[in-house]
Amino acid sequence: MLQLKIPNIKVPNKVFTGVYEFLQKIAPYSPDNKYLEGPFAPVPYERVETDLEVIGTIPAALSGTYARIGPNPINVKNPGKHHWFLGDGMVHGIKIKNGKFVWYRNRWIGSDTVNDAFNRPHAPGPRNGIFDIVNTNVFGHAGRIWASIEAGTLPVELDAEFETVKHGLFDSDQIAPYTAHPHLDPATGELHAVTYSATQLNYVQYIVVDADAKVTKIESIPLNRQPMIHDCAITQKYVLVFDFPVLLSVKGMISGESVPYHWRENSYSRVGVMPRNGTAADIRWCTLDPCYVFHSCNAFDQDDGSIVLDAVVHEHMFKEREGGPEVAATTFERWTLHPETGTVDRKVISDVLQEFPRFDERLSTKPYRYAYTIGASLDFTDDHPLYRHDLLTGETIVRNFGANVNPKEVNFVPRHADAAEDDGWLLTFVTNAANQTTDFVILDAQDMLGEPVARVRLPWQMPLGFHSNWIAD
Ligand SMILES: [Fe+2]
Repeated sequence: MLQLKIPNIKVPNKVFTGVYEFLQKIAPYSPDNKYLEGPFAPVPYERVETDLEVIGTIPAALSGTYARIGPNPINVKNPGKHHWFLGDGMVHGIKIKNGKFVWYRNRWIGSDTVNDAFNRPHAPGPRNGIFDIVNTNVFGHAGRIWASIEAGTLPVELDAEFETVKHGLFDSDQIAPYTAHPHLDPATGELHAVTYSATQLNYVQYIVVDADAKVTKIESIPLNRQPMIHDCAITQKYVLVFDFPVLLSVKGMISGESVPYHWRENSYSRVGVMPRNGTAADIRWCTLDPCYVFHSCNAFDQDDGSIVLDAVVHEHMFKEREGGPEVAATTFERWTLHPETGTVDRKVISDVLQEFPRFDERLSTKPYRYAYTIGASLDFTDDHPLYRHDLLTGETIVRNFGANVNPKEVNFVPRHADAAEDDGWLLTFVTNAANQTTDFVILDAQDMLGEPVARVRLPWQMPLGFHSNWIAD
């Protein structure tokens, strides 16, 4: 593919902030905004509950925190312009000790906006210009808890009770955009990520953070466009760079859109295969028809030099619905990347609307058998089942929770360190829109259709949110 050489350009944050805020002011933008009501509705409080009803028996082997994060805007200046992706972050969590429920708590992430609203001091640590809000993922690393988002903002460290400790690129003083989706290599303990920012024109970055939360590599990767990159994938040899045609739109910026990224018709999708220990000059691109991927599942190297990548694939994104995203058509697919020829073989594993693929992450970068997804329609009267895809037999198990009862992202926790791939539990929050409640649910992964092993009953509805993780003690 012919590539024009465009130099890397970093727009000063003050310039970007000024232009962005000016355009927001002069160009009112009013999408069909459902992001402040129904399943998106923010909760107006922080609370701690230690006396919730537990049905069943929480496995004694479980000790840790189940944390979930999503947008929970505290002070929306212009509801017509509010976008789901941009609200202040809030973490919800369940603490379990030796199989006993200890607490539920929720806390806003300490952005300056949130701390101003509560008359709290600003949290320490650097900011990347205007970017201060994180709301997309919360995960454990280096024995600590971190929350993160894409597109320019630095991660935030939280303490064990979700109070904000500091902002910053882990334990580095460097300012570089991060992502909601770093990938842990279980063999090295490193986090690998591909990151982008609207202020970094025509390049993205590959960032490696070691097992002690130190940044050990930042490699700039030139692109000749500015895609929205939500995720990446890693194998034992490579990091996979997603370059799909959802691009920063000058028209969207001038229109004052809060998330000015648009689908580009008649463009291309490609996955860059870059050696983890190499540089951008070593990338080989594998090209395929236009599509979009928010989330990869797992990826691994094969003996013949090809690479397997499993992902939820959207036919298009930010095309149909002003202020998107739209969930029009998704497939869970297995791609085989051939770096030698630059081609991709695509195989559809499942063609129902689904998202948030997860698996037994002890097997990250290795062949694996089971992938879990959930129904992803943005019509919340639809059923949102939990799916388990058996990648060996092709069989899919479907667990339906019922009308208006929706599981959120599911996490697999092994019974013990050496347990088999499906020998453990599936953890999730399940919301019931009809009676405005939420259950923290533990399923036996080998009996996914059976009665839950345990449920903790929350008598309120948790907002839709984005991602969750089990953070073992
Ligand atoms: Fe995500």
